[in-house]
Amino acid sequence: MAATNQDEVEIPQALIEAAVAARQHAYAPYSGYQVGAAILSQDGTVTTGCNVENASYGLSNCAERTAIFKLVSEGGDRRLKLVVIATKDGGSPCGACRQVLAEFGRDFRIASYAVETKKTQVWTMAELLPDAFSLED
Ligand code: THU
Repeated sequence: MAATNQDEVEIPQALIEAAVAARQHAYAPYSGYQVGAAILSQDGTVTTGCNVENASYGLSNCAERTAIFKLVSEGGDRRLKLVVIATKDGGSPCGACRQVLAEFGRDFRIASYAVETKKTQVWTMAELLPDAFSLED
């Protein structure tokens, strides 16, 4: 899907660096694909996460969900502003993570950052998951 207009969005370098740093903690011995996520909340706080894999593959947790579960369980600001995901190649969030992030809004932005090329791509949550499942709509 086409990303949102890249010119409209400024991604703070510190948030990219937080996602890249979180990626260093990735536990990904099975896929070898390391992912870091950094969530900027509206109050300015940043919460990070990485993927954590398991020998029982289906139990693996993505970086985005690690970060959002940390944020909520630590009592952080759930009003999301921007999420940066760092991978080697700029991969976009998986379907499960889109649904979990969409729980906390539709109009915040998600940026993927490719460590190898330093390129970013930006979407709104609504672009990534139109018509997300909700009990409230
Ligand atoms: N992964 C994430 O952390 N986030 C995503 O949005 C997609 C995939 C992880 C899961 C697994 O540990 C590895 O990347 C390869 O799929």
